[in-house]
Amino acid sequence: MTATSMRTDRAGDLRAGDVDRAVALCGWVAGRRDHGGVVFLDLRDAGGVVQVVVDPDAATGLDAHTIRAEYVLRVEGTVRHRPEGSTNPDLATGAVEVAARTVELLNRAEPPPIPIGERVEADEVLRLRYRYLDLRSERLQRNLRLRARVNHALRASLDEQGFVEVETPMLIASTPEGARDFVVPSRRHPGSFYALPQSPQLLKQLLMVGGIDRYYQIARCLRDEDLRADRQFEFMQLDAEMSFADGDDVMAVIGDAVRAAVVAATGREAPPIGRLTWQEARDRFGTDKPDLRVLLEIVDVHEVLAATAFRAFQAEAVRGLCVPGGAELGRGRLDALIERAKGLGAAGLVWMRVRDGAELDSPVARHLTDDERLGIIDAFGAQPGDLLLLVAGALGTVASVLGALRVEVAHPVDPPDLALAWLVDFPLFEGLDDDGHPIAAHHPFTAPHPADRDLLEHATGADLLAVRSRSYDLVLNGWEMGSGSVRIHDPDLQARVLAVLGIDESRARERFGFLLDAFGYGAPPHAGFAVGIDRLVAILAGEDNIREVIAFPKTQSGTDPLTGAPSGIDARQLRDLGLSVIRRT
Ligand code: AMO
Repeated sequence: MTATSMRTDRAGDLRAGDVDRAVALCGWVAGRRDHGGVVFLDLRDAGGVVQVVVDPDAATGLDAHTIRAEYVLRVEGTVRHRPEGSTNPDLATGAVEVAARTVELLNRAEPPPIPIGERVEADEVLRLRYRYLDLRSERLQRNLRLRARVNHALRASLDEQGFVEVETPMLIASTPEGARDFVVPSRRHPGSFYALPQSPQLLKQLLMVGGIDRYYQIARCLRDEDLRADRQFEFMQLDAEMSFADGDDVMAVIGDAVRAAVVAATGREAPPIGRLTWQEARDRFGTDKPDLRVLLEIVDVHEVLAATAFRAFQAEAVRGLCVPGGAELGRGRLDALIERAKGLGAAGLVWMRVRDGAELDSPVARHLTDDERLGIIDAFGAQPGDLLLLVAGALGTVASVLGALRVEVAHPVDPPDLALAWLVDFPLFEGLDDDGHPIAAHHPFTAPHPADRDLLEHATGADLLAVRSRSYDLVLNGWEMGSGSVRIHDPDLQARVLAVLGIDESRARERFGFLLDAFGYGAPPHAGFAVGIDRLVAILAGEDNIREVIAFPKTQSGTDPLTGAPSGIDARQLRDLGLSVIRRT
């Protein structure tokens, strides 16, 4: 399958079963070693690396001593067993080598400015400046191939489940995903701009009104937001929407697709995906994207300390973690944990070492009654030798501080473990804006939870924050993998939600009047989801930055050192577009 008019095999595919075969290989020189006249070349191609032996006595057509790193060669020779004692079990081809008959130079190469290896310690900008060299590394080759398998599996799964792949445009009007838009000036309409899609959200909802019934797309999304390990300006979503369906239907469909992707990437079955409510996740894990590989859970000790005389524990929430065997941690490590908790926003962190006889060794032990000490040990189910870490304060802060510490104090987990879960019953709103209006937690088209309709109709201000939504997230190993919701299809309910959000009718019409119009023409009940493909692939590849699974990513500061983007445009282009540049000082 890999044979072409130039080669018979890929270098990296050769195995003991190929011994005695005459082969022609093409690839790059990954290394060269001279041994008393005999030259050993590591020849690298898309399949991997194989050792080539160039004997000076053999007529090879090229002086092997002149061959440099990254030269492009064509080698004809015979596969043979490596001599006893020189096999390399770390290399897939390590049992064999190729005795070269001819070595043909296809191209020379400049000395590579970055090392091409498994874990390159080169500067980020340099790696991206020479991305085409970095791409030759086994790591990126492996990651991009894994990515292709994941894309293929996602597509195949949705195809099988009756979804239709529809492409939506890149030049659109702004979408309400909450980030800044990338905009494209219009030449034909000077002063007007297209927005690049933050997601196909509104378009996929129009597809439902259009009777497509089950839509999906491997969609490119663009958001002008700060870049982090799990964020790029441009990223890909498996975006889907279905009519006459609710959240359970969507979770079943997407769950199947994601589990198919796990099999394609790892060869292993993914376990069924369990569910947690947002509230449960906040209470037990302190976050809405819990890393469920970590078993440690947050314990609420508020009730035990309800009547405490100790000031620091007289707070809205007092919660903590029990670290098994953690009593051994020294003062230096405990001080570091206190600093860490403060850095995360806590007023402080109280530690307690559990000793034999239900004793607590802690700087605050003397402020607690015997009942309180016993109550705490009991609430945690703590054993002698355990360490308790307690945080008191506002509920949100206590949860998020303990949520972060939970993962940091737990024993390291085995990277291949995949812990997938659905988070359901998110709040509809996340806080209030400066005008006192709630802010949509997902987007303004997310349906409220049916049990909270009354609350939505009658509550005002902060009371609205208790309204739950019909949205759901998929989390994997502490990362948000995707999110979706049941949408509002009833124009009256949509109007109510927009009003609550403080988006008045004229602004709503201006921003997405086309969608509201469409809903007036028989919108089916519908629901959907989007999976962040870059994040999914990164986790499956064991990477902690999505950049490592993207062929041409941007740097942390959003530049592309390879092509020079972003760059200026010339005066004529600016004139055509009716633009002038204001330089900020
Ligand atoms: P949301 O905005 O939550 O939902 O995005 C869905 C998923 O896309 C991924 N993602 C990103 N990945 C890399 N870089 C980014 N900058 C980035 N931003 C988001 C995440 C995230 O969970 N239209 C809705 C979905 C729906 O309701 O159907 C949406 O886009 O994995």
